[in-house]
Amino acid sequence: GHGEVLVSTASAPTNIAVVKYWGKRDTKLNLPINSSLSVTLHQEDLQTITSVAIGKDFEGGDRVWLNGKEETDLASNKRMQGVFSAIRERAGDVVDEASGEVLVPSAELKTYKIHVVSRNSFPTAAGLASSASGYACLVKALSQVFRVKEAHEGELTEIARAGSGSASRSLYGGYVKWEMGTRDDGVDSRAYQVKPEEHWPNMHALICVVSDHKKTTSSTGGMIDSVRTSELLKFRAENVVPARMKAMEEAIAAKDFPAFAELTMRDSNQFHATCLDTYPPIAYMTDTSHNVSRLVHAINNESSSGPICAYTFDAGPNAVIFLEEDHVEKVLKALLADFGPDSAESSEPFVRGQTTLPAA
Ligand code: PMV
Repeated sequence: GHGEVLVSTASAPTNIAVVKYWGKRDTKLNLPINSSLSVTLHQEDLQTITSVAIGKDFEGGDRVWLNGKEETDLASNKRMQGVFSAIRERAGDVVDEASGEVLVPSAELKTYKIHVVSRNSFPTAAGLASSASGYACLVKALSQVFRVKEAHEGELTEIARAGSGSASRSLYGGYVKWEMGTRDDGVDSRAYQVKPEEHWPNMHALICVVSDHKKTTSSTGGMIDSVRTSELLKFRAENVVPARMKAMEEAIAAKDFPAFAELTMRDSNQFHATCLDTYPPIAYMTDTSHNVSRLVHAINNESSSGPICAYTFDAGPNAVIFLEEDHVEKVLKALLADFGPDSAESSEPFVRGQTTLPAA
């Protein structure tokens, strides 16, 4: 018969938050305690590529291979299961494009077994947000193969969000905000594009790999502990982030780099302060991370026209440095002088990858 095996492949980029998501009000659905905003890094070396095959008669039920290794306990992976069922619920008919004939009705398509093969083009769990591109990519590939059409704008970002919060922001390019929403069912907790990347064509990002070791505290575990024990986190979510989201959107709309830079650095610093305010404390930044931060401030202090570069750190020691194209050469040179392979502080690898936004 028709359509016994259907295949689709997708790729998805990672993103780096400039207003950070930290803290869940619902751990099952990944509903956050504050909105967040990120920049999508679409370089080929920072992507996930996922192929999905679905079939009527696949043996062994749903199966998933991540970076060449099969997930052995898929049944207990609640987030993955949640994504599978959210997609199956929304399956459409498989239609022959030329004749309009229904080849596989949605009721039957839903029963097809899923095989997923997914690969990252960068080291997993190195603080480079692999879960963001991973779940965004899974949702993209599954929605294609199951013929899912969004019933409203951003519906797919809701499904990705339930897989990993930051994944909601990786379905769009450029500058993307994730509105926290207020509902308990998460239907209003979705991502929206604020501006496409062409809006700010000379914006670049340098990825500084301080360490590619696996991070020590997972974001999910860290968030649970922070929500439970940090007083600063509650203050941040209620009293800081709402105004910061607005200011960040305005800075991006106006392409006001000094404003963007200060907001980005302050937000990264406050996020790491809430981690240290967690009890017991969570320390993601290393001495090298702090030295990078110091160098960025030293460079900015020499500028008479406000900051020219801005660091941000996620749940790991690696730095992402935003800057406009004119300053890439100067800043990269300074970074390599202090932290490059020939520098005194090169016991750890540093500035292994350079990437730009948009792609050169
Ligand atoms: O989506 P998760 O569970 O990987 O959490 C991401 C948390 C941060 O990267 C630290 C911040 C963010 O907004 O991406």
